[in-house]
Amino acid sequence: MTNKIRYFIANWKMYGDLGSLKSIKNVIKFSRLSKSKKFKIIYCPPYTLLSDFVDTLKKSSIETGAQNIHENYDFGAHTGFINSKMLKNLGVKYVIIGHSENRTLGEDHKQINKKILSAIKSKLNVIFCIGETSFQRKNKKTNIILKKQIMNGLKGIGKKCKIIVAYEPVWSIGTGVVPNNLELEKNIKFIKSIISKKFNNYKILYGGSVSPNNIKKLNMIDLLDGYLIGGASQSSKNLLI
Ligand code: 13P
Repeated sequence: MTNKIRYFIANWKMYGDLGSLKSIKNVIKFSRLSKSKKFKIIYCPPYTLLSDFVDTLKKSSIETGAQNIHENYDFGAHTGFINSKMLKNLGVKYVIIGHSENRTLGEDHKQINKKILSAIKSKLNVIFCIGETSFQRKNKKTNIILKKQIMNGLKGIGKKCKIIVAYEPVWSIGTGVVPNNLELEKNIKFIKSIISKKFNNYKILYGGSVSPNNIKKLNMIDLLDGYLIGGASQSSKNLLI
């Protein structure tokens, strides 16, 4: 295990209400008391809780992110949507873009690219999700898919921009199944080989069924800069793996 700072990003998806704020108190306490500062915690709750999270976390080292944005940078007639400027104005620092749960709903490369450009224009940090489906993996298309997602999603983005890539194999999300370290390391290396040519400042995370049961094994992969955690991040006990 290296000494580098590892990211723990909690993606709460469509879970949580005002009562859930209680559960982050332990995490705030933990991050304050911990002598090791080798971690960075970011909470991405649903939109309805963003303001409360920003407020609750403002005196801590923990930061807040959103789970998606509309692709348009400008304000406009888009009922039910939120743009990057609105999040920035609220004090949000990060945004997840390209999550497979949104790609499945029809979000395409072009929209994802527009969202990333808009987020960068608003000075939000982008957590860009990529990953292959089980079918693509079985057909040995993983590299082709990952490269296509990266090249299209990050088109036109300056080398100096900071990018967090979250590798989330679709077949691993919410299934309890995690790639073995050999496969994961191979895919992370492949992602790094592309990203390192495009950006000076980048992080590569893993997401998909991360839990206290597999974190020790995953931590053995030095190339990883941290985790994007879904289900397990709901409980403060499990997030502090
Ligand atoms: P799980 O950790 O629940 O598998 O979800 C992963 C994920 O989709 C995080 O963005």
